Amino acid sequence: MTCRWASRWVPAALLVGLLACATRIAASPGHTTPAAPRTPAAASPAAQTSPLAMRGYQPPGRGLALRPPMGWDGYNRFHRNVSAALVDAEARAMVTSGMRAAGYTYVNIDGGWNLLRRAAGGALLPNPRLFPQGIRPVARYVHSLGLKLGIYASAGLRNCAGTSAGSYGHYRQDAATFAAWGVDYVKLDWCWIPYRRFPGRTHEQVSELLARRMGQALAATRRPIVYDVNNTSWRVQHVWEWARPLANLWRTTGDIRDTYTSMVRHFLANVGHYRRAGPGGWNDPDMLEVGNPGMSLSEQRAQFSLWAEMAAPLIAGDDLTTMPAAVRDILTNRAVIAIDQDPLGRQGHAVWHGDGHWVLTKPLSGGGRAVVLFNASGRGADISASAAELGLPAAVGYTLRNLWTGALTWTSGALRAWVPARSVIMYRISADVIR
Ligand code: GAL
Repeated sequence: MTCRWASRWVPAALLVGLLACATRIAASPGHTTPAAPRTPAAASPAAQTSPLAMRGYQPPGRGLALRPPMGWDGYNRFHRNVSAALVDAEARAMVTSGMRAAGYTYVNIDGGWNLLRRAAGGALLPNPRLFPQGIRPVARYVHSLGLKLGIYASAGLRNCAGTSAGSYGHYRQDAATFAAWGVDYVKLDWCWIPYRRFPGRTHEQVSELLARRMGQALAATRRPIVYDVNNTSWRVQHVWEWARPLANLWRTTGDIRDTYTSMVRHFLANVGHYRRAGPGGWNDPDMLEVGNPGMSLSEQRAQFSLWAEMAAPLIAGDDLTTMPAAVRDILTNRAVIAIDQDPLGRQGHAVWHGDGHWVLTKPLSGGGRAVVLFNASGRGADISASAAELGLPAAVGYTLRNLWTGALTWTSGALRAWVPARSVIMYRISADVIR
């Protein structure tokens, strides 16, 4: 990098005159904290594949989720009390709020929808109190709105709450049932796994085997189904190391809670796995808490920005039927969504961090970068970085679009901004080229 970034900001209108400026500017005043060890340059997603995963395996979601899935799921807000009427209402609100137009597609029924017992022939039974007509009419209605339906299953004998039948021993049957109902997305949770039935195998090997078996069962239906592996043993297992050839997304964390601390913890658990993500397979730090009461609007904007920067699935977890305009504006910020959905499909990574201050960069198709300056700490701070650190090519200057204010600025040297406590500033940056 030859031309450092200026710490001054100028309106884009002045850009033309300033393009000729190739002034070399000394390094910016620098970081407010000592630079942490740099993460190595991002590589293309490495499909680190174990032989077990690959032998004859046809992923059910091949060709799907080429961009991170977007949708809604009732668990964060309603837990296991999601009914057919609620799903219908949320799907309608997804349309009327402008979310569908902004790219949200999946309406996901989470755990708790089915009974603990199965029908005489072994079929799963929707809870008649919540889904009196079953799942098929819900799927039909969701499809009529131009949306897709997701459902929850457990790889083990029960769901994690222990209240519903799991799919263990019924993978083929349940996959066929889901396909017949018109389900487009299956989230496979990880509880009540009978590990003792797999002597000589580690828990992680069993997980991989079961993920593959359900994947095969879903693929056998020949219905295109997005496959979400929700291995809650992530603390002791390394799901991201084997899930990519099997599934379209995999959880890298436990369950998010509606607090700022939990949101940051999930960011921290996910941010390092950036090499694993790519078109067709994504790291999932769990659903959004945007619109739920536990975080301020600026903390909610921080979650939305960080998730987009990490190319995470954007699955809203609030009540879409009652959300205020300020929340809707976060969830439908198209400039931020475009970063998440960028066709290159690279997950952003940290170029440095220290004292709760983060600089993240995400390569974009067309050569630009999405940059998030995240101040996770409780005090406002200056956060800065150089174009070289952000992975931008040498240029006479750089145009920055602030993705929350829309403001355009230009700089020839270092990027530096004041970031309030528990907030982000997010830019799309492009290098200016002299013609
Ligand atoms: C958990 C899972 C959550 C949600 C919940 C439903 O095990 O991690 O995302 O699906 O079960 O009961």
